[in-house]
Amino acid sequence: MLMHAKAGNSAAILDGKAVAARVRTEVAEKVRAFSAAHGRVPGLAVVQVGHNAASSVYVRNKKKACAEAGIESFSFDPPETVTRQELLGLVELLNKDSRVDGILVQLPLPEGLDANEIMDAIDPSKDVDGFHPTNTGLLAQKRPLLRPCTPFGVIRLAQEYGIKLAGTRSTVVGASNIVGRPMALELLLAGSTVTVCHSRTRDLPSEVARADIVVAAIGKPEMIKGAWIAEGAAVFDVGMNRLDSGRLVGDVEFTAASQRAGWITPVPGGVGPMTIAMLLSNTMDSALRRAAG
Ligand code: GUN
Repeated sequence: MLMHAKAGNSAAILDGKAVAARVRTEVAEKVRAFSAAHGRVPGLAVVQVGHNAASSVYVRNKKKACAEAGIESFSFDPPETVTRQELLGLVELLNKDSRVDGILVQLPLPEGLDANEIMDAIDPSKDVDGFHPTNTGLLAQKRPLLRPCTPFGVIRLAQEYGIKLAGTRSTVVGASNIVGRPMALELLLAGSTVTVCHSRTRDLPSEVARADIVVAAIGKPEMIKGAWIAEGAAVFDVGMNRLDSGRLVGDVEFTAASQRAGWITPVPGGVGPMTIAMLLSNTMDSALRRAAG
């Protein structure tokens, strides 16, 4: 079992908000140096189609974080009636625009638009979400370029707390293209032995119980029970679920899991803030690579 930073029988809290603030300060410093060297600041194009309420909150937070880091954001808000040709045309314009280092099309897209087709149209060198098949493929081949923000944020958070990944057993719960799958590739890259669980997994409790590292990305409130967690494990909770009471909870039963885990991320204030910080970091990296030609 891992060494862990446990006080009594309560897990150390992984403060994603604090680590994200540090990453954002680092990015802001790089933005200043980039601006002095190149006479422009990095640019991120943010495309939100229609008016999904949750998306509006995420998009607002992303633009605010850009402004704070000195990154210019360009907003595009086509109506949900936008045609696939119009949206592909917008992506093509952004691909060609030299002020734009990153392109983010907020998901989900309204019904009738094929997210895969739109993602595939983004220039992989500007794909700061890391969702393009080229970037997925590069990560799978151990030569990551632009890495999906949430999984990359989990890795960064583990590094900042000195949580060893190489040689561990990890269990990722959830196999989505945005989180679960790239998370498994990141952990594999870091030298962990990875199990990916999904709705067809036969015995989820035992898959979780043998993991040193647990990443929960299912989207079901408190589905991972505290009793399943191995003593001393590191638990990263990607879930953000709003209960009828208004309370925000993760995918992990936090209080019970804290009694067993060595480290655990809170919700909110854990993985969530890291996602935005890594988006800024990806945009900065993309600008540097593009400026280097
Ligand atoms: N929808 C939920 N998470 C994300 C994300 O990280 N990027 C984009 N583009 N859309 C999302």
